[in-house]
Amino acid sequence: MSAASGSAGKLIQVEDITRVFHVGGEEVRALRGVSFGIGRGEWVAIIGQSGSGKSTMMNVLGCLDTPSSGRYMLNGKDVSRMSDDELAVIRNVEIGFIFQTFQLLPKETALANVELPLVYRGMAARERRERAKAALDKVQLTHRMHHRPNELSGGQRQRVAIARALVSEPSMLLADEPTGNLDSATGEEIVRLFEQLHQAGHTLVLVTHEPKLAARCPRAIRLSDGQIVADGNGREVAMGTASDVLNVGGA
Ligand SMILES: Nc1ncnc2c1ncn2[C@@H]1O[C@H](COP(=O)(O)OP(=O)(O)O)[C@@H](O)[C@H]1O
Ligand SMILES: [Mg+2]
Repeated sequence: MSAASGSAGKLIQVEDITRVFHVGGEEVRALRGVSFGIGRGEWVAIIGQSGSGKSTMMNVLGCLDTPSSGRYMLNGKDVSRMSDDELAVIRNVEIGFIFQTFQLLPKETALANVELPLVYRGMAARERRERAKAALDKVQLTHRMHHRPNELSGGQRQRVAIARALVSEPSMLLADEPTGNLDSATGEEIVRLFEQLHQAGHTLVLVTHEPKLAARCPRAIRLSDGQIVADGNGREVAMGTASDVLNVGGA
């Protein structure tokens, strides 16, 4: 299994990560020594009950937060000790974020929303437009590119957000409860889109509390109280039948 192979070529390698918050003189240990690798092209769910450390893990993986100790290598770079400015650059280049609440600009068209990350990169308008159209094509939404978010369904809005995440060709897509605001049929539509993106070779990391979604992923990691308690086949981890932690500390 890829999860057990060597760490050298991994897109993500986290080693003994901790994150401690200090709240009114008390220590909250949100992550307590987490280690795993994720290879290019993997589709991994991070699951666990409320308070288990999923959002903290997601913030570290997304370079929105830095660990208290441990090491995080992303695409060959040690990001665990970077400054906020350096992290901002890494985020822009390496990561495409997908949020539960879509986070689209309401007054802009789908096309303009998808172009936005390229505007920040200073890309010329014509090239920007071409790339944004190609990204909208990947989510089967070119026929709605001139619509604004309030003229789109929830599922279409999330697909625009996915196109926006794809447009800058990041190393990985990082999604936080991507179906959390959708009804089950629309959620299913989005899961199928993730399946297509996985088949096309994209690296996907989803944070979710929904076992049904995790069960669709080839791999899931379960957190409990800031530690990994299972890492393996998505269905088995989601159903709680994965027998053991498979790759803590790397093999
Ligand atoms: N900014 C913060 N300050 C203090 N405690 C926090 C902060 N963020 C998270 N925590 C605590 O860390 C633990 C893990 O939280 P979190 O990562 O949000 O879990 P989850 O996303 O799985 O619900 C919880 O006990 C939470 O209260
Ligand atoms: Mg959370």
